[in-house]
Amino acid sequence: MRQVGVIGVGEYLPKRVLTNADLEKMVDTSDEWITTRTGIKERRLAAPDEATSDLAIKAAQKALEDAKLKPEDLDLIIVATITPDMQFPSVASMLQNGLSASKAVAFDISAACAGFVYGITIAQQFISCGTYKNALVIGAEKLSGITDWQDRNTCVLFGDGAGACVLSEVKTGGILSTYLSCDGSKMDLLNMPAGGSRNPASHETVDRRLHYIKMQGNDLFKIAVRSMTEAAEIVAKKAGLGLEDLDLIIPHQANMRIIMAVAKKIGLPEEKIYLNIAKYGNMSSACTATALCEAVKEGRIKKGDKVLLDAFGAGLVCGACIIEW
Ligand code: COA
Repeated sequence: MRQVGVIGVGEYLPKRVLTNADLEKMVDTSDEWITTRTGIKERRLAAPDEATSDLAIKAAQKALEDAKLKPEDLDLIIVATITPDMQFPSVASMLQNGLSASKAVAFDISAACAGFVYGITIAQQFISCGTYKNALVIGAEKLSGITDWQDRNTCVLFGDGAGACVLSEVKTGGILSTYLSCDGSKMDLLNMPAGGSRNPASHETVDRRLHYIKMQGNDLFKIAVRSMTEAAEIVAKKAGLGLEDLDLIIPHQANMRIIMAVAKKIGLPEEKIYLNIAKYGNMSSACTATALCEAVKEGRIKKGDKVLLDAFGAGLVCGACIIEW
């Protein structure tokens, strides 16, 4: 089996910034509540004419440049998203065309906030067994399009963005272990009820505001802490490492209190946790993707470092992987 690693990263965040002060004018909330309950100060919003594929392609181009590869070098494109431009075709197909990656096989995956880690895990399988050489994995979301801007319980949490990485065979380091899980029995805690085959779009579904994210945040909070802690422990054990051997943790950025509770449970200090929640909020699959890119660009990840990606989201899914840089 070939050893697989990340050879390039890229990100794209839309320009428009929506601050907590802006939200105070839209719903009954306060900067104080949002900051203390979530850790979020602002988030980015895509322009009305910007779709998920537009965000994704910009992140992808940067990752390819960073990897020093051309689009035609790509064999596989995986886009993790719950906000595709349309039901079909896939965002990945749009990228294959937009990048002119004519040789690449392309498909989307739906694993919500754990989508980027799911994507990395799938790509690793294809490369390690020799089916494909170079893969592009992207987490991209335009959550603002499915956020109910009248619901203070959810609208303060989400934002838009995209992060990408290129995976290929590496001589040293690379992905040491991966772990994925799913508990479909709790899928009703977080969903978007309409727009699929169960409740196709109709005047009634629009009137009932069913095309927006519905979330039972309190129940999810506890499960998120438990699941992300368990995933970190399992994936470290699979890699033959102790949690203290990790140099940086890149957690899904849903809530600062969730992240700090996980850090406490696995016994790691705050300086080993990478955070970008304050400036971007929860961007689902794009959280770990952009955070990985920023951590590399900021010099927080050095050669030989062991980095844990740990994500949890709708499904309910969980995904973790350890990468030696
Ligand atoms: N501004 C002010 N008050 C708000 C508010 C807002 N934006 N949103 C909710 N509240 C109120 C609630 O109405 C409630 O008021 P009540 O006590 O009068 O009923 C109170 O604040 C507490 O609400 P609660 O839902 O218990 O807050 P919380 O501490 O659980 O925080 C979340 C809410 C959503 C921030 C938190 O539960 C969370 O982050 N959950 C996990 C999200 C997650 O992991 N998602 C899955 C991965 S994407």
